[in-house]
Amino acid sequence: MNVEHNRRILLVDDMPAIHEDFRKILLMPAACGLDQMEAALFGSSAEQPAPSTLPGFMLDSAYQGQEAVAMVCASLEAKLPYAMAFVDMRMPPGWDGVETIERIWQKDPELQVVICTAYADHSWAEVLQRLAARDRLLVLKKPFDPIEVSQLASTLTAKWDTTRQAVSQLHRLEEAVLERTAEIIEANRLLQQEMAERKHLQSQLVQSEKLASIGQLAAGVAHEINNPIGFVLSNFGALERYVNSLFEMLAAYEAAEKGMGASDATAALEGLRDRLELQYLKEDMPVLMRESKEGIARVCRIVRDLKDFSHVDWPQEWVWADLHHGIDSTLNVAASEIRGRAQIDKAYGSLPEIECLPAQLNQVVLNLLTNALHAMESRCGKIIIRTGAADGWVWFEVEDEGTGIAPDIVNRIFDPFFTTKPIGQGTGLGLSLSYGIVQKHRGRIEVRSALGQGSIFRVVLPVRPSSVQTQAVSAGP
Ligand SMILES: Nc1ncnc2c1ncn2[C@@H]1O[C@H](COP(=O)(O)OP(=O)(O)OP(=O)(O)O)[C@@H](O)[C@H]1O
Ligand SMILES: [Mg+2]
Repeated sequence: MNVEHNRRILLVDDMPAIHEDFRKILLMPAACGLDQMEAALFGSSAEQPAPSTLPGFMLDSAYQGQEAVAMVCASLEAKLPYAMAFVDMRMPPGWDGVETIERIWQKDPELQVVICTAYADHSWAEVLQRLAARDRLLVLKKPFDPIEVSQLASTLTAKWDTTRQAVSQLHRLEEAVLERTAEIIEANRLLQQEMAERKHLQSQLVQSEKLASIGQLAAGVAHEINNPIGFVLSNFGALERYVNSLFEMLAAYEAAEKGMGASDATAALEGLRDRLELQYLKEDMPVLMRESKEGIARVCRIVRDLKDFSHVDWPQEWVWADLHHGIDSTLNVAASEIRGRAQIDKAYGSLPEIECLPAQLNQVVLNLLTNALHAMESRCGKIIIRTGAADGWVWFEVEDEGTGIAPDIVNRIFDPFFTTKPIGQGTGLGLSLSYGIVQKHRGRIEVRSALGQGSIFRVVLPVRPSSVQTQAVSAGP
């Protein structure tokens, strides 16, 4: 079927003579104009033919309503529907025109229909009440003019074409809208996903930028302090030796003084000894020396932490190592700290060796362990160390029954120098140092904590760091 120009017409009339007339009117060669048509019908002279670009009409005949419905069904099945039908009003003995049209429209609601009738056939009100689809119905009153028939056929077949085009365009439009909507939904989903990833990356970036700048600062500070503290420490060693020598000399003098007997000189020495509180000096000096030494050692430790934090001095040698080995040796190192303060439970899974910087990972374990001990304050609670592995990754976690971490600070605990501990007890570098180490291993640290109940710090590491992108910190409730 040519969808753009459907010129198929069905004529339903019980009178064979009417079919003859329609045939003459509608099946004239396409090039013929109305005047030629009139001449063919009524024998008058013809004018020049008018050119036409449309194909000619095809006319099928039905003589009863039932036959018409059957032909309409067949045309639909063959996918060659009629564009329009002329239907006579009276067709004894079968259905009248109105019933025929009703039934035809049940099968083919798109069909344009012209009902042909004499004036007195029916009440129009009744006809129109029965045939609701008035936008597809025209009335042709008998006796009809050939021009009316021809024009109705031309106009209504063209109307069928445009209606069909409009419907298919509407379908195409609906499909396009559905397609576009699906695209927009997908684009929106991707956008949301990208925004979430960006947010995540941004927080990672902020964290690593913070660490990078604090790392540079730390490296600078460590370098500046390292030299003076180095010579203070070595001078202090010499000073300690000199003081011991002086004490030794003093003891010799005191012994010699006893053999000198009473004299002005011994009385003067006695007076000086009392004024200088020599005895107290002798007792207090070692204490002062010891405390100063501890102070210097602490400064050295802080400098070392700062250097560790900025990775200035650490060897960058990657080796395959057993994480359990590292955890156990760290527990040994911290044994005296742990004793009496916590009970350690180990729940080790089976782990493959991983490619890592073992000394640095030990540092992470130590930091988490120390934090867990501190979190338990004076209670002697339980610390559980678990390990496990899956799909190219290994993990270990340190769980404590301590104070837990308040939700409003959980995002800050990895910040360098963030500490809730009293001055002198925490530098706030433990976790940021650990973060840097884990990041270097392309792993991540996860935190879960419930205030008043305890915390779990989980470190997840790739078996082979070179095979993964950098991971992030994530904090949970
Ligand atoms: N297991 C934990 N339980 C409760 N709070 C914790 C725990 N681990 C860390 N925190 C909190 O995070 C803060 C930062 O920890 P971090 O280890 O970086 O520094 P610090 O322990 O305070 O000092 P440092 O480790 O340098 O001696 C701690 O002060 C504490 O408030
Ligand atoms: Mg700490």
